[in-house]
Amino acid sequence: MTAQALLSVRDLTMNYKTRRGMVSAIDAVSFDLRQGESLGLVGESGCGKTSLAMALLRLLPENAVVERGQILIEGADLLTMTDQQVRDTRWSRVSMVFQAAMNALDPVFTVSDQILEAIYRHQPGIEPSVARARVTQLFQMVGIDPKMADRYPHEFSGGMRQRAVIAMALDCSPALIIADEPTTALDVIVQDQVLRELRRVQSLLNMSMIYISHDIAVIAEVAERIGVMYAGRLVELAPSAAIFHTPAHPYTLALMSAFPSIHGPRTRLTALGGEPPDLLFPPTGCRFHPRCPRVLDQCRQFTPPMQSVGERHQVACWNPVEVRQ
Ligand SMILES: Nc1ncnc2c1ncn2[C@@H]1O[C@H](COP(=O)(O)OP(=O)(O)OP(=O)(O)O)[C@@H](O)[C@H]1O
Ligand SMILES: [Mg+2]
Repeated sequence: MTAQALLSVRDLTMNYKTRRGMVSAIDAVSFDLRQGESLGLVGESGCGKTSLAMALLRLLPENAVVERGQILIEGADLLTMTDQQVRDTRWSRVSMVFQAAMNALDPVFTVSDQILEAIYRHQPGIEPSVARARVTQLFQMVGIDPKMADRYPHEFSGGMRQRAVIAMALDCSPALIIADEPTTALDVIVQDQVLRELRRVQSLLNMSMIYISHDIAVIAEVAERIGVMYAGRLVELAPSAAIFHTPAHPYTLALMSAFPSIHGPRTRLTALGGEPPDLLFPPTGCRFHPRCPRVLDQCRQFTPPMQSVGERHQVACWNPVEVRQ
């Protein structure tokens, strides 16, 4: 772990137990995240993005089995913490905006009541006047007029509801915020406004952020570094510019070809041929090999390790696309 790493994930491997067998949802994932840094996670539906996010908060469902690995938050391993230690870490150090969270606001309570409830839950004993002032501050932080506080969720637009959910995740000033597809349900213009706001708050508070999306345009806007996931594995990790201009993994290259330009029309990751593998029976060796145009014999048998191909640029591939420096 480097000195400044806020989060260090090491060899994280997690399966879901199902009646049909074990689903290999996270396999040997390792990466570091520095204080104040934003990392985008991208990959097709079902590649394990939400599973990884949930593991980072130890919020996995009952049938999840962590086989091995470490999740070090400021040097302390989340996986060996007591439940009380996890509760102290969750929300106050690591917080999350869940996938489709904007629909999770309760229609029968005002938005400020729901934020207050979150504040009391995370900081029991806080003075009511301090909590109220905090709601106003959080509203201002995410760009909602505090006068809107006592309205009900249905009186908020989609973008405003999403901002309210982000405000809730910020209530304990976490060191790391994980946002799982927070803007997918919004139209493009509102999505851009919310993203800009999230980015502004993130740099204002010097928070680290993990931003999950299918949408490469969105990832390009928010992330300094990008991790590409394929079938439960991290296959490439690099500064955003390198992912866009000199991708080394054939899967990343395919994603980028499906996406003509950062400033062009938004596309979802569906242009790649073939189907993502069934994680009950993942392919042997490199999990991308059945779809890979650069496949070699060894790819079918042996799992490629992450190797360095440039400045902070790593790829797990036996036959990477050449990276021109
Ligand atoms: N509780 C569960 N039990 C069994 N399998 C699960 C469970 N949750 C997720 N999975 C499986 O684990 C794999 C990873 O799912 P996950 O939701 O993490 O993917 P994702 O990348 O977030 O997808 P999406 O982009 O659609 O949100 C998938 O094969 C999924 O079917
Ligand atoms: Mg998901």
